[in-house]
Amino acid sequence: MVVVRYKKELQDTLKIYRSGRQKIGFVPTMGALHQGHLSLVERALAENAVTVVSIFVNPTQFDNPLDLEKYPENLEKDVLLLEELSTSIIVFAPSPSEIYNGNIVARSYDFNGLETVMEGAYRAGHFDGVATVVELLFSAVAPHTAYFGEKDFQQLQIIRKLTALQELPITIIGCPIEREFNGLARSSRNERLSKPTRENAGFIYAVLLTARKKFGTENALLIKDWVTSSFADNPLFELEYFEMVNEETLVPLAEKKENIKYRAFIAVYAEGIRLIDNIALN
Ligand code: PAF
Repeated sequence: MVVVRYKKELQDTLKIYRSGRQKIGFVPTMGALHQGHLSLVERALAENAVTVVSIFVNPTQFDNPLDLEKYPENLEKDVLLLEELSTSIIVFAPSPSEIYNGNIVARSYDFNGLETVMEGAYRAGHFDGVATVVELLFSAVAPHTAYFGEKDFQQLQIIRKLTALQELPITIIGCPIEREFNGLARSSRNERLSKPTRENAGFIYAVLLTARKKFGTENALLIKDWVTSSFADNPLFELEYFEMVNEETLVPLAEKKENIKYRAFIAVYAEGIRLIDNIALN
């Protein structure tokens, strides 16, 4: 397993694949790897000659300094997990100063409204930070294909938009959400939940499944009211938002239209830890 810290080192390691016109796959992560990440890596391994996995906790995408401070970091453990999948993976683990060329600030982007709703509305500057680091990582790795989880579906749409706006020759693949036995979407943050709360957190997915069922027969307002009151009745979880939106534009659903894909998004606090999830409605 190769672990590289510097862009130049990464580019030298990739030279042989690039000159042989072999496909380079890329899975950007912030470490604390779990089955969700590993499923992306497995797909990248199956579809490319070489796979780069970046492990970089990006400071510019955290609106809450406490969240950044508490973000779990364990490079050694992450490398061991990756090694179990394949010893040919290249791990790129740069320092903030290396990736940001010494200037650790986010650029400012306009993604035509994708960045201002839901996560964008509740986490000021979050998507500027994400887009900045993804642009910097794309430029360092120059992959043919990059893999992102659908758990962060809004992020996925923004990265698709970024790639289109910058005309980057990179195929963006969205991969299905991995779930724990009770339906809780896999996330590095789940580790911070107490055992009973983690066990009960399948409630979030259960609400999404019922919302999807109701979508066939009830209007958006009724479904939103039902979700709000379901959470009001459950003292373990605090609902931050529940939105049903057009999957492409992320514009909230007013009136259902034919041939439009809709998706429900949810953000919830449990023991002060923020959890997000989403589900396709049709
Ligand atoms: O989804 C994540 O883990 C991060 O937002 C990403 C894409 C690695 C950028 O820091």
